[in-house]
Amino acid sequence: MERENTSNKETVLSDLQLVVDLVAGKDVDVEKKDWVAQNISSIREATKNGRHSTIYYPASGEDMLRVLYAYDADHLIAVDPDEQWAGNLEEKLQSVGIQTKTEIFAEERKREITFELDGKERRITRLYRDARQVDLKAFGFEAVDVLHIYAPTGADVDITEEELYLQSKYGDEWIMMSLEQKVRDEMATDPLAPKPDEEGRYKIVIPKVREEITAENCVMVSEGGFFVFGERGSMFGLPPTLLKIVGLEMKQIVERHPQTVQTSFYPKEEELKSMDRRGDIYHKIKTVSPDVIKCFEDASGLSFGINYRFFEFKRGDFQYMGIDPENNTDIVSAVNDEHQQLTDQVAQIVQKMKEVGVNVDLVNEYRTEVLEAFKNEIFHLQYQASELLVAYKEVSGKRKLGEIDDKRALKMLGIGLVKNKWSGVMDVVNNKWPLASQMVFSGENKDLTHKIVKQLAGARFEFSDK
Ligand SMILES: C[S@@+](CC[C@H](N)C(=O)[O-])C[C@H]1O[C@@H](n2cnc3c(N)ncnc32)[C@H](O)[C@@H]1O
Repeated sequence: MERENTSNKETVLSDLQLVVDLVAGKDVDVEKKDWVAQNISSIREATKNGRHSTIYYPASGEDMLRVLYAYDADHLIAVDPDEQWAGNLEEKLQSVGIQTKTEIFAEERKREITFELDGKERRITRLYRDARQVDLKAFGFEAVDVLHIYAPTGADVDITEEELYLQSKYGDEWIMMSLEQKVRDEMATDPLAPKPDEEGRYKIVIPKVREEITAENCVMVSEGGFFVFGERGSMFGLPPTLLKIVGLEMKQIVERHPQTVQTSFYPKEEELKSMDRRGDIYHKIKTVSPDVIKCFEDASGLSFGINYRFFEFKRGDFQYMGIDPENNTDIVSAVNDEHQQLTDQVAQIVQKMKEVGVNVDLVNEYRTEVLEAFKNEIFHLQYQASELLVAYKEVSGKRKLGEIDDKRALKMLGIGLVKNKWSGVMDVVNNKWPLASQMVFSGENKDLTHKIVKQLAGARFEFSDK
């Protein structure tokens, strides 16, 4: 196939189509191809005004062409010990008329593949090694433009002293051998063998690949570059000022098509249709110190914790909000305690942020944002509880008089059924008010839910931010 070395729109489109065919499969349905194309184009769009020339992708599997093309990168460094598909990428590219050149460095367990795509020379360095033991500096990089991490299964566990000791004795068989009693006994008596701590844990020697914002991941990326963790949207989101503090901007992308992921679990066709396709990508606008990133880690953990407690509360698990059904806890004191705890934890984080030199205005903005978000969530829940009580009373009355049937009653309360993505069984969902279905269905918890909803609707919260 004759390929043009120009970058006019027609060539770009045909190259996208070609990559989509290679990633999705040539003969798959249009919907799948569209999704793959949207994923790629959305990453191009989100990263076009930043640095995207070099990418580091630990535990890449064979997901190389999609990522290289999506970022329009010049050089992708892909590290994964699995050699079974070596040469596959070149074959695929050649099958569509793209000439490739491969240099094999057997001793280094490395393949250097070069080819031309979209009018540019591209290079993939494929290293068949454990990503946890690879140092980017060995490639002549202090940092790369993009750190792309997607399902690093296998590389997502720490390497401990125990692993290194067993590996030195048994090589690749070490995991199986570690399960043998004889081996455990020998370890216990060998004075040179590492010893676990009181909780049975061995010292970490090399940390795992972490699919999140950490100081280690941040230093790998140049200012102006990007991080991607799983190409998925975060479950709850982060306070916007916190992102500003850590020097990041979040951009939206279309999540990767799950059937193009190398895994043993694939969702079914009908599940794909209802999937939320929003994914996030972080743009590193400013370089901040590891101390600031540590504050960020604490603060994002705190936000996740609060959001998770609200999430569970709305599902009818009130203990997450400190409500103990045995002790007849009152919602006002439980929420006040929760708010006080949050205020104290935020104060500690704020103090640390100031100590490590974060701009005071930003710190104060962050504090206000977190505490206001908590209050607003409580007031919103309270408003919803009041609405729910009114609706529940009306529906119960009409149902008793036979004016409506069960189906209509559930509809009026916004209660629906959806097929569970994973188990295939029907789940009850609250489309209008949290706790509506728990007031109607939840057996043992039903009375408690009624009580909590009533208490919440009538509560008078007076939050103090001190
Ligand atoms: C679930 S697959 C994901 C592959 C690829 N990221 C994708 O999204 O298609 C997990 C990959 O991790 C690789 N892996 C396992 N242990 C690893 C390690 N220690 N270092 C690097 N990669 C590893 C496996 O070989 C496999 O390719």
